[in-house]
Amino acid sequence: MKAAIDHLVEKLDGLAPTTALILGSGLGGLVDEIDDAVHIPQSKLPGFPHSGVSGHAGDLIAGHFAGQPVVMLSGRAHYYEKGDAAAMRPALEVLAGIGVTRLILTNAAGSLDPAMLPGSVMLITDHINFSGGNPLFGEPSDRRFVGMTEAYDPAMRAAFEAAAVATDTTLHQGVYMWFSGPSFETPAEIRMARMLGADAVGMSTVPEVILARFLGLRVAACSVITNLAAGMTGTELSHEETKTMAPLGGARLKVILKHVFGEGLLDD
Ligand code: HPA
Repeated sequence: MKAAIDHLVEKLDGLAPTTALILGSGLGGLVDEIDDAVHIPQSKLPGFPHSGVSGHAGDLIAGHFAGQPVVMLSGRAHYYEKGDAAAMRPALEVLAGIGVTRLILTNAAGSLDPAMLPGSVMLITDHINFSGGNPLFGEPSDRRFVGMTEAYDPAMRAAFEAAAVATDTTLHQGVYMWFSGPSFETPAEIRMARMLGADAVGMSTVPEVILARFLGLRVAACSVITNLAAGMTGTELSHEETKTMAPLGGARLKVILKHVFGEGLLDD
């Protein structure tokens, strides 16, 4: 841990980002917007995961985004890779260790709302942990009993809403339901998810939100809708579709994020 923190601090050469972004499937293009970018392969950082998922580049990139210091992870480890919900814990601990206090998560997701079409962006207001996995299994301290009532930080959400209004960008809001993956859901599971109050489904993000709250980070998260969920159209789902469709919503999300950072809307 200390070795990774020291290594990263040295590489950052004085840059001290307080906000980190984790980029989801097909959303890595955001790193091209970073000025004075320092790229570090996550494999060079002790404890960081090696994401084996295509569409996830696996670098840590730090620099300035819309004038603000940031660090981005293009690629994350998923629960479905090894059945380890805590796979992102060392990476998040290192980010907290270099002074990061806010985490913005992005993911690709399937929509349960026929009016929230592929290319849409949904600000996550809350989640349902349907996988049953938890990154804090085995954590011995009482700190494991993390409150999740305001897991998605109200002030950060307000910043995203304000940016969407100011840039005239449609931003949906809703509940994200975490399925373990890697197989997609069945149509029956999607009908169940809708009955339980979900608006979008996906295979990531929830473990990182739990870990981030455990570490005291403030969190915001956005889903980029790549498809209508299983059974809602006549066609089968695929990871190819996720990768090709993600940049559509990614472009919208970029507009919102640029405004959030450019206008310093997250500043306390
Ligand atoms: N289900 C789960 N994960 C996803 C989906 C989906 O429909 N689309 C993109 N990621």
